[in-house]
Amino acid sequence: MTHETTGTSRVDGLLAQLSVAEKVGQLVQYFYFQLPEQPDAEASPETDPAQSTTVEAALSRGAAGSLLFVTKPEVVNRLQRRAVEGSPHGIPALFGFDVIHGLRTIFPVPLALAASWDADVIEAAQAVAAREARAVGIHWAFAPMVDIARDPRWGRMIEGAGEDPYLGSVVAAAQVRGFQGDHLGAEGRIIAGPKHYAAYGAALGGRDYDEVDVSDSEFWNVYLPPFAAAVAAGAGNIMSAYMDLNGVPATGNHWLLTDVLRDELGFTGFVVSDANAVKDLETHHFAADPADAAVRAIHAGLDLEMAVADAAYAHLLEAVQDGRVPVELLDRSVRRVLAAKEALGLFENPFVDEAEAARVLGLPEHRETARSAAEASAVLLRNEGGLLPLSVPDVSRIAVIGGLAASARDTLGPWVFDYDLAETVTILDGIRALVGEAAQVDFAPGAATPQRLFPSMFDMFGDGTRIDDDVDRAAERARAVQLAAGADVAIVVLGENQDMIGEAASRSSLDLPGDQLEVLQAVVATGTPTVLVLMNGRPLDLQWADANVPAILDVWYPGTRGGEAVARLLFGEAEPRGRLPFTWPRDVGQVPIHHATTRGHHPQTQHARYWNAEFSPLYPFGYGLGYATFAYGEVRVSADSIPREGTVQVSVDVTNTSDRDGTETVQLYLHQRSGTSSRPLRQLKAFQKVGIPAGATRTVVLEVGPEQRRYWSSATRGTVLDATTFDVWVGPDATAEKGASFTVTG
Ligand code: NOJ
Repeated sequence: MTHETTGTSRVDGLLAQLSVAEKVGQLVQYFYFQLPEQPDAEASPETDPAQSTTVEAALSRGAAGSLLFVTKPEVVNRLQRRAVEGSPHGIPALFGFDVIHGLRTIFPVPLALAASWDADVIEAAQAVAAREARAVGIHWAFAPMVDIARDPRWGRMIEGAGEDPYLGSVVAAAQVRGFQGDHLGAEGRIIAGPKHYAAYGAALGGRDYDEVDVSDSEFWNVYLPPFAAAVAAGAGNIMSAYMDLNGVPATGNHWLLTDVLRDELGFTGFVVSDANAVKDLETHHFAADPADAAVRAIHAGLDLEMAVADAAYAHLLEAVQDGRVPVELLDRSVRRVLAAKEALGLFENPFVDEAEAARVLGLPEHRETARSAAEASAVLLRNEGGLLPLSVPDVSRIAVIGGLAASARDTLGPWVFDYDLAETVTILDGIRALVGEAAQVDFAPGAATPQRLFPSMFDMFGDGTRIDDDVDRAAERARAVQLAAGADVAIVVLGENQDMIGEAASRSSLDLPGDQLEVLQAVVATGTPTVLVLMNGRPLDLQWADANVPAILDVWYPGTRGGEAVARLLFGEAEPRGRLPFTWPRDVGQVPIHHATTRGHHPQTQHARYWNAEFSPLYPFGYGLGYATFAYGEVRVSADSIPREGTVQVSVDVTNTSDRDGTETVQLYLHQRSGTSSRPLRQLKAFQKVGIPAGATRTVVLEVGPEQRRYWSSATRGTVLDATTFDVWVGPDATAEKGASFTVTG
C-alpha cells in the first residue's frame, strides 16, 4: 500500500513549472532568529546576526520553503513578502514554531494538561494556542509531543502525557483537534506536528538524545499508539526524532518513516526532521557526509529538513542530477509540502493582519481558559486532617516560602518564548489577591536552588530566578523559618526552576535541588501547619514530605494565570481534580517504573524485588485526591461471556460520600489471564471524569471492546485478539480494588 498525497491542479501545475533547485528549496526549513540582545552570548549560529541575513537571501531566491521561530506578525509579513515576491512562482513560505503550551497566553505545561485527564480542557487549551499562533502568522505547531516517558530523569517528560499509551492517545488526539479544528486549514487553526517519531522517550539512562533500544512489543504496544491516535485524528505533519531507534537513526529509518508511518498508520501529510537531524545522520556514523545524509533521509521518507544553517538537503540538487534521487521521489515530498500550504489557504492569503493579531493576543477569555486549565491540572497528593482547603479568617497570618512562589518566569515553565511576564500571576500574587485585606501574607524565599551545571541553549529565552550566592544562606533560611513560626499556616513552594527540565535538561537525581528539603524540614519543625506546593515537570523524591507534611499540592508549571488558580485551589474556590499521568517513584533508583508491567516469577513478593527498599511506588498511576470523597460500589459486567469481537459494558456506582460537590476520575484497568504473549498485571483501558454532587450517586458505564483487548505479540509478529478470561477493575487509580471478570470465547 502506498499513501500518496494527491496533488490538486494548483499543486500539480506548480510542480510542472518548478526547477529542480526550486523544488529542493521547498524541502528546506530554516531557523530565523529574532533574539533579544545577548552581549555575552557565546558565538553560535543562534546568536550570529548574519544568520538572519543568509536566511532572508535564501528565502528570496526560493531556497527556503519554510521558516521557524518567527513570531512577530510584522516580521512574518516582511519575510513572507520576500518569499512571494522574490520567487518566480510566488510560493508562500510555511511558518512553523514550538507552540507547546501556548503562545502569548501560557497554559500549564503539557504533562500538567495530561494530568487533567480531561480531553475538553486539553482541546480548548490548544485551540487558544492555535488561534494566537495563527493570528501572528504561524501556520504549524511542532506539537503535540506524544512521546511516552517512563524515566523521569529524562527532562522532556514534561512535554508529553506521561507513561501510558491509552491516556497518551486520548491526550494526543485532543491536542490535534485543538490545533487543527475539524479539518486541515480551518479558520484560526494551525497544522499539528506530533513528535518525536518515534520512541524518543525511551532514551538510555534518561539522557536526552541518547540511543533508544526498545523491543518490537514495546514499540507497537507502548510507543506507537499515541502517534497512531494523532494520525487518526488527522495530524498534518509528523516530526522525526533525533535518536537511533534500535540501531538505525529515526530520521534515516525507512521502516519507521515509510513502512510503519505511511503503510501501517496511513499518514498522508509531510514529515519534517527535528532540527539538524538530517545532518546528524553523519554524526550517528550512519551517513558518510551531508549529501549522503540527504539522499538517505529522502529515500527513508523524510520530506522537509529543519536546519539551523547549511541544509543537507541543498545536496539533493546534485543527487537528482547524478541519479541518486529520482525526481519522482523529490516531487512526492514537494507535493506534500505544497499541499499543506494550499490546505492552509496560503496561496490566497499569505499575510496576516497585524492589528488583528494584537487584538487576539490580548483576549481576556484566553487568560480565563488558561486559569481554568491550571485548576483542572493540579493534583492533590496529600491532605491529612483536611488541612486544605484553607479558609480566611481561620488563617489570618500566612507565610509564603520559596523563591518559586514569586518567580513569574518559573510559573510559566519551559518551552515558552512570547510570554508576557507583567501579566503573569505568581503564586504569591495569587494568594495576596485572593485573601485581600482579610489576612496578612508575608514572603521569604528561604531556600536557594543551584544553577545548572552546564548552561542551556534555552537560557537566552529567560532563565529562572535564583537567589544571590552572596546572601548568607543560614540567615535566609532562618528568616523563612521565623516567618513560618509566627504564621497560622506556611505555604512552602518548592520544586525545580523551569530551566532544570525540558530539552537538554535530564537529571541524574530526583531530589529537591539545593537546600529546599532543609528549609521544608525546618518549617515543619516549627509546628505551623504546612502545605507543600510543588512546581515540577517530573516526579521528585517526596519520601520525607509524604511522611511529614500534611498537605501536598502538585501544581506543575501552571502558566499565565497559574498563581490565581493555585490560590483558588488552596482556598477551596476550585477543586483539585487532576490525576497523576505517571507512576511516582520513591526515589531515582526505582526508575524506569510504570503500572503496566508484566511479572512472572513470585509476582507479589516484596523481598524478591529490592532487598533494601520497597518496590511499590510512592503514589500509583492515576492517583489524586480532591476535597470530596467517593465510594465505589460493586463492579458489574454486562455479560459473563462475549464473542471475540464483542464488547462488554462495565458499570459501577460511584457515591460522593462528602458534603462537597466533587469530580471523580473513574478509571478502568484490564488484565488478561492468559494469552499469545505474557500480559501486564493491569493496563488502563478507559476512564471517565464525572461530576457528582454531595451525597449523590452516579452510575458510570465504561466499555471494553476488541480495540481495548487487541495487542501486538512478538510470538506471532502481528496483532492478536485472544479468547480467554479477563479481569477488570474500576476505581480511583491503578490500585483499584473492586473488580469483575468476563470470558471471551473463541
Ligand atoms: C529540537 C526539539 O527536539 C524539537 O522538539 C523542537 O521542535 C525543535 N528543536 C525546534 O525548536
